Amino acid sequence: MTKRVLSGIQPSGNLTIGNYVGAIRQWIENQDQYDAYYCVVDLHAITVGHDPAALANKTREVAALYLACGLNPDTNVVFVQSHIPAHSQLEWLLTCATPLGWLYRMTQFKDKSAKQEQESVSTGLLSYPVLMAADILLYHAELVPVGDDQKQHIELTRDVAQRFNHLYGEIFTVPEGIYPTTGARIMGFDDPTTKMSKSSDAQKHAVHLLDDLKQVHKTIMSAVTDSGNEIVFSKDPEKAGVNNLLTVYQAFTGKSESEVMANLADARGYGDLKKAVAEIVVEALRPIQENYAELTDDVSYIDSILAYGAEKASEVAEKTLKEAQEAMGFLMARQTVKP
Ligand code: TRP
Repeated sequence: MTKRVLSGIQPSGNLTIGNYVGAIRQWIENQDQYDAYYCVVDLHAITVGHDPAALANKTREVAALYLACGLNPDTNVVFVQSHIPAHSQLEWLLTCATPLGWLYRMTQFKDKSAKQEQESVSTGLLSYPVLMAADILLYHAELVPVGDDQKQHIELTRDVAQRFNHLYGEIFTVPEGIYPTTGARIMGFDDPTTKMSKSSDAQKHAVHLLDDLKQVHKTIMSAVTDSGNEIVFSKDPEKAGVNNLLTVYQAFTGKSESEVMANLADARGYGDLKKAVAEIVVEALRPIQENYAELTDDVSYIDSILAYGAEKASEVAEKTLKEAQEAMGFLMARQTVKP
């Protein structure tokens, strides 16, 4: 049996080469192997404050980027989370089966809430992982490809599924996370000790998939390195910048470490290394940006793909939601008939 897969990315910030290498590309490489659901998790994007005027366009942009990178909408279900009300509905049911202590323990909640005025931290930031559990459990996903930073959320999803199944009967499939291999983790070009983030405002931090290609070149040429001149893969924190450049090169060429080193044997210093990396990345982004321009040329095209995806997703999600409601003992709504 082909395995059911589900994953999603928030439409906040601008997707980076880190999202591409760490997530979207994995989805595409395995797209013939799985029965897959990929959503744009817009409900998750409102937990820390957002711009209402930008949300719809950002949501469409992320979906268009999935396709521009090569995800086939005929064989994968591509949809928007908020188009399927069952996500919010199941979230409530799961919230009532999730002990508060489990949520207070989540490191992402601790980190993000610490950055805000305590008074203004939304309840949504706390229940965020329960919504993520609903996303996954509604589709009986067996595998969930995500970044390492989501491990704790996947564990929570498993715990919630098991607890629900124990309390109300075997409704949910207990999923497993799949995590990128090392090397798929791209760090900030301005600070190679922190993971590249799509919501950082810092100039020179990230290369975004839709950045002007000249800017891409510039950002990579300005990458922080060290005062030495040795081009080597290294775990030494001092060499994190060079290691990151090599990692990007490796991720975009698909070569082994020794092949990468052989390719770069002529590089006479960090300038040459950066130039080589910049060229590889620019040439990889060029076709993605061309596809993106074509896909978004007709505004209604992406929306029609998403409407089709929502129809497919809804069939599965509605069924699971009903099963969960029934298991919990709700009086199920019937077709209206005159009493
Ligand atoms: N929390 C995930 C992240 O920030 C995004 C997400 C929400 C997700 N729902 C999901 C990922 C369901 C996988 C499956 O990366």
